[in-house]
Amino acid sequence: MVKSFKMTDQKRFHSIVVLILTTAIAGLLISGCKKNNDETVTTQFLKGPYLIFPDNNTQMKVLWYTNIYPGNSRIAWGKTESCSDSNIAVTEESYSSDDMHGFNYTLTGLTPGIKTYYKVIADQNTAAGSFYPAPPGNATRLTFYGMGDSQPKTGVPAMFDAVSAAMLSDMNKDEPNRHTLVLHGGDFVYRGRVEGDWGAGYFNNSYTNIASLFAAMPIMGAVGNHEFYNANGKIDMTHPNSFIDQYLPYPYYSDYYYSFDYGPLHVAVVDNYSSYEVGSDQYNWLSDDLTNSTKPWKIVMYHESAFGNAYDNIKVQTNLHPLMVSKNIKMVIQGHIHSYCRCLKDGIQYVTLGGGGAPLDAGRGPEGTYNPALIQKDAFVFHFGRFDLVDNKIDATIIDKDGNIIDSFSCSTTIK
Ligand SMILES: [Fe+2]
Repeated sequence: MVKSFKMTDQKRFHSIVVLILTTAIAGLLISGCKKNNDETVTTQFLKGPYLIFPDNNTQMKVLWYTNIYPGNSRIAWGKTESCSDSNIAVTEESYSSDDMHGFNYTLTGLTPGIKTYYKVIADQNTAAGSFYPAPPGNATRLTFYGMGDSQPKTGVPAMFDAVSAAMLSDMNKDEPNRHTLVLHGGDFVYRGRVEGDWGAGYFNNSYTNIASLFAAMPIMGAVGNHEFYNANGKIDMTHPNSFIDQYLPYPYYSDYYYSFDYGPLHVAVVDNYSSYEVGSDQYNWLSDDLTNSTKPWKIVMYHESAFGNAYDNIKVQTNLHPLMVSKNIKMVIQGHIHSYCRCLKDGIQYVTLGGGGAPLDAGRGPEGTYNPALIQKDAFVFHFGRFDLVDNKIDATIIDKDGNIIDSFSCSTTIK
């Protein structure tokens, strides 16, 4: 009896332990984690979801960060809002720390140009979005957007949010044709080597227009000088820059330069902070890239404005302008200067889209730092650009944050 009684107690003890552990694990999975002082922390999306186009019109990369490791971490997608075509667990972390966990998943098997809905599930939270995979390679029409310099020196992206709202409003006026992608001329954040500037200044989910934009359109960008600023406000150009790698994992060819095709458009993205002088690896890559592309439209994007209304970058003028002229480039997207400016030089429209959220410049730069004779239009307002491509022509419309058109122009290329 005694022996039997002891066994019963042991079983009861084990049952209680199992019950406690099960309850604790279930609590973690369902309600989140308990931190110090019994403070319950529920799963939250810290960053995203946001999109990156992986240079493949049947794919889209979805990225997001949560505050705790979710017990239930999934992504579902499909051609209807129910997202019932596919549903998969995403448990492998791209980043992990005590208070942040990164995930991404590349959706595959998508139908080019057909709207795709998705839901990211992190425990009790669901973030839904939709996008259009890039159009077929033989498409002859495309609308795309451009912007730059979203970085908020103030710490929070209020003006980037306003520009995002205006862009979304414009997109929704012709959603099936305008729900595509955004090109970003660089300076995403004020201090790119500071985590808080990414969290509060770019991926700030309390700014709902930014969050909506991120969930709807891939933002494909060039790195800016501010991506290399450290906590002391000094520029540290050391490559690689782990935050760029972490938050902007574009399909880099080397350093931070790359190119991609999107329907009839080829975009070559230059890294101003890796050598691009004549004969450098990047220069040779760009030359070959523009030569080898068979797309009817080829544009180049980089951060530091070569022809604008302040502090022209002479190195870009000297090294890249002759190359781009020789490759029949007709439009270039630039940033860095915090205003809108369009210059025309040797048949190339140099479009500076620097009014994406950073404090605006009060006016043109000092005399001698730019060539006023080249300026077709400039404006010191927050803005973005919409580019409507049909066959060999692009009609561009530059729109301020209040929806007013501040410039429009057309340019044409020669289709081989
Ligand atoms: Fe800049």
